[in-house]
Amino acid sequence: MAVSIFDNTPDNIQKASRILHQGGLVAFPTETVYGLGADASNPSALSRLYQVKGRPSNHPVIVHLADIEQLDAWTPKITSEMRVLAQAFWPGPLTMIVPKSPTVLDEVTGGQSSVGIRIPNHSVALALLQAFQGGIAAPSANRFGQLSPTTSAHVLDGLGNDIDMILEGGSCQVGVESTIIDLSQDQPRILRPGMISQAQIEAVLDYDLCMPVSSHSTTRASGTLPSHYAPKKPLYLLDSKDRYNQIETFRRKGQRIGLLSQVPADVDFWLEAPESPEGYAHALYGLLHEMDHAHVDVILVEQVPHEGLWQAIHDRLSRASIRLAVVQGGTDEG
Ligand code: TXA
Ligand code: MG
Repeated sequence: MAVSIFDNTPDNIQKASRILHQGGLVAFPTETVYGLGADASNPSALSRLYQVKGRPSNHPVIVHLADIEQLDAWTPKITSEMRVLAQAFWPGPLTMIVPKSPTVLDEVTGGQSSVGIRIPNHSVALALLQAFQGGIAAPSANRFGQLSPTTSAHVLDGLGNDIDMILEGGSCQVGVESTIIDLSQDQPRILRPGMISQAQIEAVLDYDLCMPVSSHSTTRASGTLPSHYAPKKPLYLLDSKDRYNQIETFRRKGQRIGLLSQVPADVDFWLEAPESPEGYAHALYGLLHEMDHAHVDVILVEQVPHEGLWQAIHDRLSRASIRLAVVQGGTDEG
């Protein structure tokens, strides 16, 4: 049966909840990106989730909850850090990695002793979570390593008939995945930057986090792997100062060039890069999806700043661009 996109009416939200209880897979909107939901207490639903995503089974998934009251079921002890961060940022784009309760399935944690939890700030996600009355495991609704979806059309395009239902929720407001903070070790640290910045978290905790985001993290967070969040076409980051020469190099090779930058240039296809980090994050995956569908051979993206809220965008673009080296090395695993 062909999957279709359902309006987020109360009836369809009930239907989505029933599908999840029966072990099915439902894609739903959140404020960051669309998630691919499965019942976090159903091992066979989770194994199907991994299969559809094409994700290695030792990579953990985030559990989404409706309410802070439900946190007790997932972690043995709610610390003051968890409490203040939840109060400040939930519902919202922050995932907390916390020690797991004994009942949390290995299929959720990838066999680790911690679990990732988030309360999303999207009315459709919250209505679904309230109807479902439990934890919904949901990675981004894309195949492993590919671009995250920020519209229902992206989900349909990427996962199509392999899932049971897609709930409509418009285009995701934040646009990049949640900030992940690891609270399961001695010192809290950020594993994945997002639109809640390190400075905002430090202000709430009232101390500085010890380690900056590192791409050499040993924790199995797939969003921290190089070669992730990548379009199908090779993506290069352009140094603004040397832009003209870099574009010329590709042109001389006879390649059709797509360019994402603030100022236009003489290329085959140009998309305007938003000026603010919030605007850029919101548009990022949509722009890269558009580049993938355009009649171009390479995607050139003007480098963005590293600081503050730009960090999340810089991180995603860097990972998308690293993939090129892998492809050139002939070890593209698709
Ligand atoms: O914004 C988001 O976080 C979206 C929406 C749907 O909520 N979800 C998302 O899920 O980005 P996913 O699976 O694509 O990325 C979740 C990241 C992965 O890198 C995963 O490895 C990491 O969170 N993660 C989950 N549980 C973890 C744990 N216990 N320890 C370390 N990393 C964990
Ligand atoms: Mg993902």
